[in-house]
Amino acid sequence: MRLFFALWPPPATGRALEDWTEKLRGETGGKPMRAENIHLTLAFLGEAEPGKAIAAAKHVRGTSHALPIEQARHWKHNDIVWVGPRSVPAALEDLVKQLHQALAEQSFVLEKRPFAAHVTLLRKARAPKSLPPLPPVEWPVNEFLLVRSHTVREGSTYEPVERFPLDILKSRQFLA
Ligand code: 2AM
Repeated sequence: MRLFFALWPPPATGRALEDWTEKLRGETGGKPMRAENIHLTLAFLGEAEPGKAIAAAKHVRGTSHALPIEQARHWKHNDIVWVGPRSVPAALEDLVKQLHQALAEQSFVLEKRPFAAHVTLLRKARAPKSLPPLPPVEWPVNEFLLVRSHTVREGSTYEPVERFPLDILKSRQFLA
């Protein structure tokens, strides 16, 4: 199975980001992510055993937080438009660190590139002159998911395999 770990936004946030992408497409062209497919990848496993991935994720003790969607960028190296936080929230950084560590202990080999918190919205996009202002959106992070990716003629469909809840805030560590 082709697997990855990700954060999924509430449906209204997916729809608002899809609407925003639509405003850009006249200028950039490209293939937009459908609202229900919009996500932030925490770790990409590729072809892998779900059992081992689930065992690894069960070791993670993450804390609930909010994901601010504050900036939009175009990346020339892979022709995508993405949105994300200006800096990675401490609780997200901690979650990703624990997850990558737990996966390494289960012998998963992850990409060496440092984690970049990005939500891809448009693929095969030309660089725009400017990007429209982002809508205000809520993205509460109360769980992370193991997701299966199916490749179909129209693109990819994603199927949740398992959900891992995060603890509600108990200390002041991540309030800043
Ligand atoms: P991307 O949006 O930057 O392409 C499912 O394919 C998710 O896994 C996507 O969000 C994709 O990120 C991410 N991903 C990370 N590494 C990948 C790889 N080597 N091949 C495909 N997808 C990858």
